[in-house]
Amino acid sequence: MMTEATTVDYDGLIPNNVGLNQDQRVRKALEVWHPGYIDWWKTMGPDGFQDSLVYLRTAIGVGSEGWAKFGFVKMPEYKWGVLLAPQVEGRTIPFGAHKGEPAWQEVPGEYRSMLRRLLVIQGDTEPASVEQQRHLGATAPSLYDLRNLFQVNVEEGRHLWAMVYLLQKYFGRDGREEAEDLLRRRSGSEDSPRMLGAFNERTPDWLSFFMFTFFTDRDGKMQLAALAQSGFDPLSRTCRFMLTEEAHHMFVGETGVQRVIQRTCDAMKAAGIDDPYDIARIRALGVIDLPTIQKKANLHFSLTLDLFGNEISSNAANAFNAGLKGRYREDRLTDDHQLLNASYPVLRLKDGKVTLDDAPALSALNMRLRDDYVADTEAGIARWNRVLERAGVGFRMSLPHVAFNRGIGEFAVCHADTDGTILTADQWAKRSKDVLPSTEDNQFIASLMQPVRDAGRYAGWIAPPRIGIDNMPGDFEYVRIEG
Ligand SMILES: [Fe+2]
Ligand SMILES: [Fe+2]
Repeated sequence: MMTEATTVDYDGLIPNNVGLNQDQRVRKALEVWHPGYIDWWKTMGPDGFQDSLVYLRTAIGVGSEGWAKFGFVKMPEYKWGVLLAPQVEGRTIPFGAHKGEPAWQEVPGEYRSMLRRLLVIQGDTEPASVEQQRHLGATAPSLYDLRNLFQVNVEEGRHLWAMVYLLQKYFGRDGREEAEDLLRRRSGSEDSPRMLGAFNERTPDWLSFFMFTFFTDRDGKMQLAALAQSGFDPLSRTCRFMLTEEAHHMFVGETGVQRVIQRTCDAMKAAGIDDPYDIARIRALGVIDLPTIQKKANLHFSLTLDLFGNEISSNAANAFNAGLKGRYREDRLTDDHQLLNASYPVLRLKDGKVTLDDAPALSALNMRLRDDYVADTEAGIARWNRVLERAGVGFRMSLPHVAFNRGIGEFAVCHADTDGTILTADQWAKRSKDVLPSTEDNQFIASLMQPVRDAGRYAGWIAPPRIGIDNMPGDFEYVRIEG
């Protein structure tokens, strides 16, 4: 049952359903933060296009139906709002040591710093991806794709607002400082980088962008799903609403790669090429060969796995015990939700071999979330493979082993092949160019990145989408570049 009014105050500077008009302190704090945010958007958000009219969806409600409206907006004038899913009456803490107690509406004092850390880490990823993607507008393969890029960007901006609201509302002065720092760090910066590795990598081309939204935004989905279970109710409600937007980001990634695969298959067929490894001839057609697409997937998958942290982690155990961060779909699991005596199988490196070991379930929560992530990713890969199947091309996409190319956790200390075979440094040096994008691969992809800006037209390396955004016709002008 829902208690709070779900109407959104859409007219003020900050659209919201959290009663900002009755909360002068927080409203003031957000209004003070706002100019810095706009400044960040203009300098670190999409390069160019700030005066273009973009056909964007804006969240205007939090109900299950009609939560968004579409219309042309200039990005700096986008309505970045603070929206929480409706409060559920009588909600209790679903897991951990406080299981069954009423969900917290205020920050529990003993967990204050742990909670603040969780908010800041999540918050930091949101502007980071906007920074990583800021140059892509210049090479968009179509206006449709350009619009999708900007949609993802403005929503990551809104996700930053969501975390900043929680910091400003519940963490006083500390929260204000954290909110400033979220605008100060920069993806890839030497002296003040973003907090997590994958968010300091470059997103140099559109295949990287699609891979990023497929693999790395999906990590975002898993983290948000775990935080949506939180006993701290405002965080739970915030994340539940963010998840509705996140689905579109993964749609952009999944269908983006799917369309690249489709186009390659079509071009191979038209040229009478059966062998997917006939790379020179395939590239001469102006499409990306399938083995290179696989290499990009290998890279983005392995970078994203690092975001799950160490397989065995006391931080994860503490956050669960505290009732702050649950498991993926905690509410659908049927165990005791406390895990004090439970165990969970964890992949480890033992005597130079990958072994499966039982570990205390509480310490293994990162591993468990990563397993759920891998399963979710597999389903997307299977959908890519249906394109290959239908095209009758003898190639299948697959995920590399979780030990492959890792920088964090059990397998950071070794080299592993895509099938999990442990390799010596020499073997890896020879092998890596076959399983990760080489300089030549990246140069070839870069050579294809020529902008296409006529409504309804697409670059030669990607197929058009099957349906338009908001059911618009194929020749719809999603971005009016001149404004
Ligand atoms: Fe996000
Ligand atoms: Fe996202």
